[in-house]
Amino acid sequence: MSDYRYLLSEREIPKTWYNVIPDLPAPMSPPLHPGTLQPAGPQDLEAIFPHALIEQEMTLAQNIPIPEPVLDVLRLWRPTPLHRALRLEKALGTPARIFFKNEGVSPAGSHKPNTAIAQAYYNKAAGVKRLTTETGAGQWGSALALACNVFGMECMVYMVKCSFYQKPHRRTMMECWGAKCVPSPSDLTQAGRKILADDPETPGSLGIAISEAVEDAALHQDTNYSLGSVLNHVLLHQTVIGQEAIAQMNLAGATPDIVIGCCGGGSNFAGLAFPFVPIKAAGKNIRLIGVEPAACPTMTKGIYAYDFGDKSGMTPLLKMDTLGHDFVPPGIHAGGLRYHGMSPLVSLLHREGVVEAVSYPQLKCFEAALMFARAEGLIVAPETSHAICCVVDEALKAKEEGKEKTILFNLSGHGHFDMAAYEKYFAGELFDYEYPAAKIKEALEHLPKAS
Ligand SMILES: Cc1ncc(COP(=O)(O)O)c(C=O)c1O
Repeated sequence: MSDYRYLLSEREIPKTWYNVIPDLPAPMSPPLHPGTLQPAGPQDLEAIFPHALIEQEMTLAQNIPIPEPVLDVLRLWRPTPLHRALRLEKALGTPARIFFKNEGVSPAGSHKPNTAIAQAYYNKAAGVKRLTTETGAGQWGSALALACNVFGMECMVYMVKCSFYQKPHRRTMMECWGAKCVPSPSDLTQAGRKILADDPETPGSLGIAISEAVEDAALHQDTNYSLGSVLNHVLLHQTVIGQEAIAQMNLAGATPDIVIGCCGGGSNFAGLAFPFVPIKAAGKNIRLIGVEPAACPTMTKGIYAYDFGDKSGMTPLLKMDTLGHDFVPPGIHAGGLRYHGMSPLVSLLHREGVVEAVSYPQLKCFEAALMFARAEGLIVAPETSHAICCVVDEALKAKEEGKEKTILFNLSGHGHFDMAAYEKYFAGELFDYEYPAAKIKEALEHLPKAS
């Protein structure tokens, strides 16, 4: 009889984060200052980030010790379980073995607290009293609200407008942990007021919410900004997922042939997949697949270029796969995947052929999520449904080819606050958006002129 779950003890939480930078097949391009378009130094980031995180953004050290107070909070839910999806395998009739890491067991319901706790800790240690941030689906805002509460800090969250109204209880959750949450664009910032004046009906986007949160932090002395994805240090903090998964796959006596995660800014995918990069480089044939929405196909249809991280051009420019910072993605229910860019680290590995990318429309993803819920019992976030859609495709391919593939994926979050989306799916009110080719073409014409 096979086991359903592979568990580690609290003492087996990884004690260091894994930094992929020394293992990259090509050098990273530096971030550029948004005004001068010259390489940005640590001093350019000091207005909104604490020194320790800037150092982590740039370090070439392979393993970075996790501070004891951070480990102490992570122990509230880590190590997370590794499950074998035996019932999904049976439902699909596939010879593939499917494993998943369940990050939905954190207090906020996703992988996001892994970095929120670390970021709040380093900001608190630097004397910062208040953090601002953006949130799409609300998972990141909830995670930072939780983390600020743990370390006694104030938290201000700009939540993408369409998600704010799709998921009102996410705001309540943030308020339970003492945070403030407003729909973005808001009239609290200059960036928000300008966007509202141009388009009062805008659904908002992560790029817009980032502009507001960065402006708020830059204007308040006691406040820093905190980002839930994309940056190197965020991906670094998520590598506890992949390190635990490697130990748990060993317990199961398996190594993955395919590692899958959904991609918004790339952090949950990287958290699971990056610790496998050196194993792949050493010759093991492992496919690392990032999955994105067809309505916001950053890696599959974007270009690799310098672009701003936000709509208003306030952040440093990052060399990344991008659809253009002006692009406002359609209001799909996977709000956490509605971002115009991709983490520079994931983008580089994608360009170098280490990481593959695929995209799926939302109806097919909901179908896969329901198949998973009915087989495994777990109702996942719409973001996670993208990973599951790819898992189902790969498992069916293995069936067609008669191959015993081992698939590992990241269950990045539960969908308990996403019932409105499931309800719309059942009512036949969800639809697939056309690939917004014209809007993306226009946004790409507005890329900053940096080589
Ligand atoms: C459950 C869940 N999965 C995935 C994502 C995408 O973010 P990332 O690509 O950084 O993991 C989000 C973002 O909000 C999320 O809430």
